[in-house]
Amino acid sequence: LGGAAGCGGGGREVAGELLASAAELPEPFQVPLPVPRVARPVRSAGGVDYYELVQKAARHEILPGVRTEVWGYEGRFPGTTLVGRSGREMRVKVRNTLPVPTSTHLHGGVQAPSSDGHPTDLVLPRGFPDPRRRGGGSAHAGHGGGAMTVEPDEWTVSRGSKEYVYPLDQPAATLWYHDHRMDFSAPQVWRGLAGMFLVHDDEEDALALPEGERDVPLMICDRAFEEDGSFRYPSLDRSLTGRAGVEEAYMEGVMGDVVLVNGAPWPELEVSAERYRFRVLNASNARRYRLTLDPGPREGASFTQVGSDNGLLGTPRTHSAIPIAPAERFDVVVDFGAFPVGSTVRLANTLGEGGTRDVMRFRVTRRASGGGGAPAVPRRLAKVTRLRAGQAVAERQFDFRLKQVGDSGTKMWTVNGKPYDASGSLASPRLGTVERWRFTSDFHHPVHLHLAHFQVLARSGGAPRRVDAGWKDTVDVRPYEVVDVLARFSGHRGRYMFHCHNLEHEDMAMMANFQVV
Ligand code: C2O
Ligand code: CU
Repeated sequence: LGGAAGCGGGGREVAGELLASAAELPEPFQVPLPVPRVARPVRSAGGVDYYELVQKAARHEILPGVRTEVWGYEGRFPGTTLVGRSGREMRVKVRNTLPVPTSTHLHGGVQAPSSDGHPTDLVLPRGFPDPRRRGGGSAHAGHGGGAMTVEPDEWTVSRGSKEYVYPLDQPAATLWYHDHRMDFSAPQVWRGLAGMFLVHDDEEDALALPEGERDVPLMICDRAFEEDGSFRYPSLDRSLTGRAGVEEAYMEGVMGDVVLVNGAPWPELEVSAERYRFRVLNASNARRYRLTLDPGPREGASFTQVGSDNGLLGTPRTHSAIPIAPAERFDVVVDFGAFPVGSTVRLANTLGEGGTRDVMRFRVTRRASGGGGAPAVPRRLAKVTRLRAGQAVAERQFDFRLKQVGDSGTKMWTVNGKPYDASGSLASPRLGTVERWRFTSDFHHPVHLHLAHFQVLARSGGAPRRVDAGWKDTVDVRPYEVVDVLARFSGHRGRYMFHCHNLEHEDMAMMANFQVV
């Protein structure tokens, strides 16, 4: 409660390991990369595919010799992968058997407000008290948002389960879904409530990109572990041990010392010497990575990017390194044909220290499968409309900053000087229009918009970075940087939100609503 009180963590680069595991950690590259199972519809009718996901607790051996309790969709971490088709509606019934309320957000999805997984739109487990029936609006009592209030009538509540409707009226893309419960997104995602969500379309099918077992999701996130194998998270530490440094960890966001890919610590993937497509997602609460291949290929680039957060690029872009902030996705092709059979290639993180310098490893075990595998990445990918600054019908500015709120001396992560106000709204863009939004910040804040996809127009007045290309829904605003984006508000009217996707910042109220009118 009131986790932000008396801290001053702003304005600095994230440095060092903030949360070390008490458990014994394995040597890297010992376990095979797991690939999350793909969910199957329970039925299909009238052009709609129906799915059911049960949120439940389960125990898994993540570190060798100990078991970790995860809270997962279908009891899995990552949750089962949902695969949809552009223009074909999907309905996902989420049943909550956890001891806590949840809200499921399809990140990057274009869905009506009632299916968007707003933080105040809860699925209550059986027997959990209804926040609408309590006085004073304190029902949410989070670990971080001491100064936030949600009035009883601002909650929307489903008991036991909720059906989310996803029209998928959007192009092929690498999306993901995760918990978004008011004040508790960070600890609940940390415990496992996240999964991949892929959308396919005809344009993508025509491209002959690597597919099948050579199209692999890589959900990257860091965690720390207690001696008994359970996830270590500061709010637990604080009550159990009162360990110093916890507040500090909180302010910068929580980072662990173990890197998991698809839920396994520093795994290894055996590959043939040909092209692979990786859907890279940074599902970490707060950690940013700069991914490289080590060694890199003798010739050619390490990564050929074919897609960004919300779809394929117009033309591929090559990168020797990929900086990736929480919630961003990079859809890339790696050509292992550039490495001799028998070699190993590390996916490294040049921003890491100690164990977090490693992410995973590829082992090239065989020649290309019959036919030589996927052909070269096509020079043209999708038709992507480039937005122009002149299209913007409004310009708005949002400042992401640590700020003293009220007279108490309490510092909070704010948007335009204010912590989240569930009943307020900071913008009312018109449906179907493009607006220019400018983000400024005092720290690294990965800014995410629900509903609206955007294109990065400028960074501190200059050109965007090479890695900023394409349609995005999350952009890393670096310390003291000014980032301009052109956002298109289309699909649905109503209340949506934008926020910092450092999940601790999000839980500490760095969020705001907007209203599409
Ligand atoms: Cu991925 Cu509002 O979140
Ligand atoms: Cu932030």
